[in-house]
Parts: sequence; C-alpha cells; structure tokens
Amino acid sequence: MDWIPVDLERSARRIERDIETLAGPEYTRSEEAIRRYAYTPEYRNTLDYFIRELEDAGLECSEDPVGNLVARNRPAGERVFGIGSHCDSNRNGGKYDGTMGVAAAVEVCRLNRELGLDLPLQVISFLEEEGSGFGQMVLGSRIVAGRVTEEELMGFRAIDDGRPFFEHAKEAGYEPERWRECARILDDLVGWIELHIEQARVLEDTGKRLGIVDAIAGYVHADIAVRGRSDHAGATPMDLRSDAGLVMAECMLELERLAREAGRGTVGTVGEAELEPNLINAVPGRARFSLDIRGVDEEAFRGVARAIETFAREAAGRRGASAEYSERQSLPVTPLDERVVGALEEAARESGEPYLRMASGAAHDTMCVAERVPAAMVFVPCEGGVSHSPEERADPEDAALGAAVMLNAIRRLVTA
Ligand code: GLV
Ligand code: MN
Ligand code: MN
Ligand code: MN
Repeated sequence: MDWIPVDLERSARRIERDIETLAGPEYTRSEEAIRRYAYTPEYRNTLDYFIRELEDAGLECSEDPVGNLVARNRPAGERVFGIGSHCDSNRNGGKYDGTMGVAAAVEVCRLNRELGLDLPLQVISFLEEEGSGFGQMVLGSRIVAGRVTEEELMGFRAIDDGRPFFEHAKEAGYEPERWRECARILDDLVGWIELHIEQARVLEDTGKRLGIVDAIAGYVHADIAVRGRSDHAGATPMDLRSDAGLVMAECMLELERLAREAGRGTVGTVGEAELEPNLINAVPGRARFSLDIRGVDEEAFRGVARAIETFAREAAGRRGASAEYSERQSLPVTPLDERVVGALEEAARESGEPYLRMASGAAHDTMCVAERVPAAMVFVPCEGGVSHSPEERADPEDAALGAAVMLNAIRRLVTA
C-alpha cells in the first residue's frame, strides 16, 4: 500500500498550537508547571478546547458517565478505529505527557478529513491517567476495563480535599453511579493506537524519532505504614528507640538492592515518604512510604513486591516496630498486538524515517484498552528523557511524523 503523503510542517504547526494554547493560564492551575487534574475548571477548559477542535474535524463528541471524552465520525454501533491518550497532568507536570497524544489524535482526524480518506475513527481522552487528583493511576481506563470494584471507587478520595471521587464527579456534572456503562466506549473499536512521549532517552540516544511499542511494563503500587514509638531526640539513648524512620530508610535501600538483583528491566522507587511527628527533635514514631515497582518480567517485579513486604516486617521487628503493607493497585505486563505493531512498522518504513521497536517502562491507558481491543503505541522522543517535570520538552515535528504514521497504519488496518 502506498504512503499517503502528509504536509508534516502544517501538522507540526497545528500540534504546537494545541500544546502551547493548553499551557496557558485557563488550562493549568500553575504558571511554573502544568497542573491539570480531573474535574477541575482547568481540566474542563481543556476538554472543551479539544471538543471544539474535534467538532471542527467533523466528529461528534460525548462524555461517558465518569468523564472520559469520546469523539466519533460514525454513528454508535459502526466499527471504528480508536486513537487518543489523556489530558490530565502529573502533579508538577509538563506540556507534553498525554496532551501531545490527544493533539496527535486530533491531527489524525483533521488529516483524515482534509485528505478525503474518511477512515472510521473514534478519539478517546481518558480521565485521570496520572492519578494526580485521586492518587489512582490510569483510573479512567481502569473503570472502562472493569478493573475497579464499586467498593474501591467509593473509597477513592481526592488528594487535595479528601472528598470522595463520586462527590467530585457528580459536582462536575457526571453520573458516576453508572460507571459500569463506561465499558461501552470500547465496544465498537477494531483497534487502538496511542501516541505518547517516550519519557526515557532510548530514542534520543539511538538517534530515532519514532518508537513502536510492543509491550508495556506491569506495575505494583503499594504503601508501607510503619508504627514505632516517638521519643525525645535528645534524651532517648540509641538502644532504647523504636525509630519508624530508620525502618523506612532500610526499606528504601533494600528496594534498590532487590530491583537491581532482579534485573530484567525491574525498577523500584519510593516516591512518597512521610514521618510523624516530623520534627527535628523527635524520634519518628510513624512512617509511611509508597512503593512503585515495575518491569516487563511479571515474576521478577511481583517477586520484588513480595520480598520488600517481608523485609519491611522483619526490619520493623528488629527495631521493636511493626509494618503494614497495602496494595493500592497493580496491572500485569501488557503485550501489544502483533498486527497493529506490524502495521505501524510498515507505515514507519514507508515514511523513510528509522524507528525502534521497544517496550514502555511507563504505564499508559493502552494497558487497559489492550485487554479488549488489539492495540499498540507510538513513542516520540522527549529531550534528555525528562518527563513528569515542567522541564519536559518534545518536538511537535516528531508528533506530526507520529500522526502521519498512525494515519497510514490505520488505513492499512481498516482496509485490509
Ligand atoms: C504515569 O504516568 C506513570 O506511568 O507513572
Ligand atoms: Mn501520560
Ligand atoms: Mn505521566
Ligand atoms: Mn503514564
């Protein structure tokens, strides 16, 4: 099949305009970083911006009962090809994570119309991918995939005000009690592609502008709460203490050791840490820290999670303290669809631009979509691999190339 030529400069200009507009004051709570969380006015404005762009490209937009945005150029019930990402940000995020994927999907729709291709398309922008609002990563797509229970949903609370997820969703005009119906947004999809920045520097280091993702690392998100005894930091001799902070410190180092030992792409991070009473002159009586453990080898990363749980109990016991492990959520390693990956590879070859076939270390909504729909992803580089930071930078020309490759791959897949 011939390559459909695309004016990449024009696409890049439009994607750049989308991204720069969405970095403006109406669309983020902060001037220093992108802060855009589910159900906030900034998030609403962002959805409205994309709705306008999608309507201009000839799609009809709707939102599901929790607020996943869906846009289609065919009536419900007709088969369509899915594309999209998310437009919420990390708590101190950059302009490109997620948003560039939605902008690229919108660009595919614009090209589809301008070039008279009329491919059947559905765009989705998933709610709360980052977990910045409610501490629950890929929440919108997990709801769609039925990977949450009613009880869990009722228990999720906003990080900022502690109020329940359902309350926030209702205030924003949604009907979260109908969350089971969200599954329907995947019913008509024959395939799915998400474009995203790589969030690492493999592409940059190998001088490639395109990554074609054939697997996504699985993860465990958990917390460990340590209970020791708070004492006077000056008056209490070292051997009479039960220091919860030291249990946490031991666990942090042990997690690094375990992840290194497991190898095979396993990584482990303590990203949140709290001490109580958190005073210079008090021995910490309590500690709480998070665990983010990931990898492309299921047994290896799950083994690290089990080992750190056991280690925490033993380390606490040695210091007269106790430790409790609780899992927040986890997703398995997600292999992506060979046919969709293959179509992307063929399109990339025809574009003439070298690409790299690779795995994703970061989590994506595609993990949940892939349970029901043949799916793959396209990565574009980000400078120095920096992401989840206001320093995040990516090139709209790479996203334009990615959008052109998506368009060509989709044409292959829907006309095959
Ligand atoms: C979410 O963006 C993650 O992969 O941490
Ligand atoms: Mn993302
Ligand atoms: Mn992210
Ligand atoms: Mn992510």
